[in-house]
Amino acid sequence: ALPARVRIHEVGARDGLQNEQAQVPTEVKAEFVTRLAAAGLTTIEATSFVHPKWVPQLADAEELFPRVRDALPGIRLPVLVPNERGLDRALALGAREVAVFASATESFAKANLNRTVDEALAMFAPVVTRAVEHGLTVRGYLSMCFGDPWEGAVPVEQVVAVCRRLAEMGCDELSLGDTIGTATPGHVSALLTALDEAGIGSRRLAVHFHDTYGQALANTLTALRHGVTTVDASAGGLGGCPYAKSATGNLATEDLVWMLNGLGIETGVDLGLLTATSAWMAGHLGRPSPSRTVRALTGA
Ligand code: HMG
Ligand code: MG
Repeated sequence: ALPARVRIHEVGARDGLQNEQAQVPTEVKAEFVTRLAAAGLTTIEATSFVHPKWVPQLADAEELFPRVRDALPGIRLPVLVPNERGLDRALALGAREVAVFASATESFAKANLNRTVDEALAMFAPVVTRAVEHGLTVRGYLSMCFGDPWEGAVPVEQVVAVCRRLAEMGCDELSLGDTIGTATPGHVSALLTALDEAGIGSRRLAVHFHDTYGQALANTLTALRHGVTTVDASAGGLGGCPYAKSATGNLATEDLVWMLNGLGIETGVDLGLLTATSAWMAGHLGRPSPSRTVRALTGA
């Protein structure tokens, strides 16, 4: 059975922009987030409080976050925090939701966090504890849940083991990342089944697909059939991770909404307002949106 409603966790302003070489003005980012909210998205990942040298595009988090926070009461605005320094920065600005981001593989933990998997988890533990003490909602991302550019296919048991540790740490929600987009529906089904058997049920999970091989919608539908109701997507299909070669854009929010509309699954999103936003953003970035739905509906 499919769910009646899906909550879209919009990552365009964070995952979508983090890899852009040319600096996007803070004002444009603020307008992007505001327009995404106007299009009906209620959870909008705004930025990251990471080291500015590691992700220069998001170095303006201190300027951006207060603007969107004040402009959008009632909208959930999670931010990424890798460590206590990041959490301090987020707390100072009144963030109510944060996300830590672990890796299922050693290669990506090293590339993305300069840590082993264990060291990264040790770095996150006090972040999660303190965030919970402050009453924040905490998401735990897990990257490389299916394939890794250095290590190849990632064993399901390896993913389950790290998921369990994030869950035990106190993360409210776990987002399963297919960072390089190599997952296919059978693999998604196998992982969700294994997680369920390990006591991590679909209600606590989100799925985060990148669309490198065109599998993101098929993978999403598979996850919905397993009871997952939170889906990460990026307006216009923007995205990629600077520390994972071969990572391309996320599942486009428009492609997701088109499928969910067809299935009669509610999202609260106005597709016209959303595609107009992505077409506007594509103009700023100077290239057409990779989303098939955006191109079909805007004639771009
Ligand atoms: P490091 O170099 O090991 O840092 O990087 P450190 O802990 O040794 O600290 C070095 C210096 O950085 C210190 O300054 C710290 O204060 C400072 P110093 O004392 O030398 O003057 N520093 C900071 N400054 C500001 N904000 C901070 C911060 N932390 C330390 N938060 C670190 C370790 C984790 C910081 C670094 O590796 C980092 O920032 N990584 C972030 C990488 C990133 O953002 N990647 C993209 C997001 S993940 C993703 O896209 C995947 C996802 O979409 C899911 C999927 O698709 O799979 C989520
Ligand atoms: Mg991602």
